[in-house]
Amino acid sequence: MDPKEQRIKIAVQKTGRLTDHSLDLLERCGLKVRKSKDQLFCYGENMPIDLLLVRDDDIPGLVADDVCDLGICGLNVVEEKRLERDANGKNALFKRVYDLDFGHCRLSIAAPEGTRYAGPKSLENAKIATSYVGILKQFLAENSVSADIEYFSGAVEIAPKLGKADYICDLVSTGGTLKANGLTEVETLLESEAVIIQTQVPLGGEKQELVDKILQRLDGVLQVRESKYIMLHAPRSALAEIRDLLPGTEAPTVVPLEGSSDRVAIHAVCRENVFWETLENLKAAGASSLLVLPVEKMLA
Ligand code: PRP
Ligand code: ZN
Repeated sequence: MDPKEQRIKIAVQKTGRLTDHSLDLLERCGLKVRKSKDQLFCYGENMPIDLLLVRDDDIPGLVADDVCDLGICGLNVVEEKRLERDANGKNALFKRVYDLDFGHCRLSIAAPEGTRYAGPKSLENAKIATSYVGILKQFLAENSVSADIEYFSGAVEIAPKLGKADYICDLVSTGGTLKANGLTEVETLLESEAVIIQTQVPLGGEKQELVDKILQRLDGVLQVRESKYIMLHAPRSALAEIRDLLPGTEAPTVVPLEGSSDRVAIHAVCRENVFWETLENLKAAGASSLLVLPVEKMLA
């Protein structure tokens, strides 16, 4: 068998809000890549995994057509493409296998500030500009509202100013774009985040094993993101109080200190960030020599 056949291809957004974070996560899973001259292909040097850098809107299609085995993109795009394929009588052919907990945003309907909005009924016969035709159509149908959908491939937010629409339906992250265009959110259709999708075509033993391994490593990477390793000294009598103060820890390690009958060293992994307030409270409970370290990897 051609060994090339066993490589996994992952589609990743080329430039945009998910790019840096997606590449960073894969790197944290141990993947080292070399970019091609045209910057569109990344060859995995230490694992049989290659990356294709593409437009986010193209990712579900590439996975559905089995050009890529996996794809990292926004749930908004995944849902839209699923509904689009559905409307064309095609199966999705990709499945959501992992939620990455970054790239949070929402797909919302917005209107010029001052618009009187009293629920979905206000959209009756209105003109709505969007590039999310599928999701918007579904929302309107669910609410038994009929409206005019104007397809815009980009710059949706200027449609009301141009007199092309009464409302827009677009992604909102910080809200900056809406604000800059005098628009305000009236309805949220979908809460989105970055997800991993996988082709529905069975991958075969070795490839699936590798995918499972990557997903397991992602578990570890996401778990340690907020985790800290904390070390401190404390009187044995304060142990219970200190344990209560340590955020998100299970069983701390307690070791006696050489030459001291009363004081012990306490080491623990905190699953949440350790803030100054926590350290101050620990100190007040009798702790000293406090040290907080980042956790790089964890395997349960
Ligand atoms: C979205 C959306 C807005 C902007 C909103 O576009 O179309 O333009 O982000 O973000 P904000 O609330 O932080 O201002 P995006 O950058 O995702 O590009 P794309 O839809 O063309 O992929
Ligand atoms: Zn896009």
